Amino acid sequence: MIVEPRVKGFICTTAHPTGCAKNVENQIAYVKKQGTFDGPKKVLVIGASTGYGLASRITAAFGMGAATIGVMFEKEATGKRTATPGYYNTKAFEEAAAKEGLYAKSFNGDAFSADVKNEVIKTIKEDLGQVDLVIYSLAAPRRTTADGITYSSSLKTTGEPFTQKNWNLKDNTIGEATIAVATEEEIEGTVKVMGGEDWIDWIDALVEADAIADGAITTAYSYIGPKLTYPVYHEGTIGRAKQHLRESADVITGKQEAKGIRAYVSVNKALVTQASSAIPVVPLYFAVLYKVMKEKGIHEGCIEQMNRLYKEKVFDKDGVILSEDGMIRMDDWEMREDVQNEVMEIWEQINSDNILELSDVDGYWEDFYHMFGFKLDGVDYTVDVEV
Ligand code: NAI
Repeated sequence: MIVEPRVKGFICTTAHPTGCAKNVENQIAYVKKQGTFDGPKKVLVIGASTGYGLASRITAAFGMGAATIGVMFEKEATGKRTATPGYYNTKAFEEAAAKEGLYAKSFNGDAFSADVKNEVIKTIKEDLGQVDLVIYSLAAPRRTTADGITYSSSLKTTGEPFTQKNWNLKDNTIGEATIAVATEEEIEGTVKVMGGEDWIDWIDALVEADAIADGAITTAYSYIGPKLTYPVYHEGTIGRAKQHLRESADVITGKQEAKGIRAYVSVNKALVTQASSAIPVVPLYFAVLYKVMKEKGIHEGCIEQMNRLYKEKVFDKDGVILSEDGMIRMDDWEMREDVQNEVMEIWEQINSDNILELSDVDGYWEDFYHMFGFKLDGVDYTVDVEV
């Protein structure tokens, strides 16, 4: 069938198989062009099918020559409904890995569940023995814990309601969004889903099964961003969860001291992904940031960020490069003073009349469509495809 984008608010309900494959191919080509580097050879990526997790898996396989096991939660195609992009991305990744003789297995299921953990660990034991790098890159709306309770994450502020400029993606106008104050229950839910509890569980389970090597490294991803978005992100419900993630890194490193397993949080750059485009206020910040960083020649996408992370900051010959706060700062270029000053200057001025001039609306949409496999160069969208 002919697959066309069907955009609803901040998501697209269709995905193009050939386009998704092209997107993966482009990321692989980028990593190969940067050259290989030394790193772990047996890598588990939890949340491996889109965004930062997919880019991490591609970097591990094609940058470090690693065998990879990926975990994701994606939908297969049914009837005329296409699969979700992560499904096609994973197929394309596996095919590309096989061509180069790289081991790659993927599990499509709920990473929070004990069943999936057990299945993955069984496969690690049978096929790889142990893993030496575990990348935790989940972005999920909900989590059911072992006691059967389902927690939901929310994108709300804490303290006072917060009103800020907001981009209406439908008609490119700028209005305002007011973000409501979260209840204690909503904060707790978000911490349960997006905090580090499940990350700790994964490492505990791997250690218990002797499926993780001594001296292994584990990474998880966070975001801080500028003061402008603090109320919706850093000081909002999600920020509480990220604080918990940061503390969980210390818990893991402390608990696993005898095995020498170390856990790190990398603070990544703001980028358009399925998870981040759902956050209010943030898309307009993306569009302004993209403009400023592209003009300065320092814009990066997920693959550029993850290749630089593992090549230059985690597996650097001098060891892991941490900033004073104990985290790896991949937002170093985003948070540069000159970048943030220009972003804030534009933010003050931007309105419905000048949004196209002052921000990179096209760049935002380009990333958005690419995520779902659309508008990629070299793909013929008029051809029938098998979904
Ligand atoms: P994404 O939506 O592109 O990827 C999420 C991944 O998690 C996908 O592979 C999905 O299949 C998987 N997943 C979701 N629920 C699952 C479940 N129950 N079981 C198994 N897999 C599941 O999101 P993105 O943006 O790549 O986020 C990854 C991490 O990076 C998150 O922790 C996010 O907070 C962080 N981050 C994102 C930034 C951004 O601007 N996009 C910036 C800095 C950090």
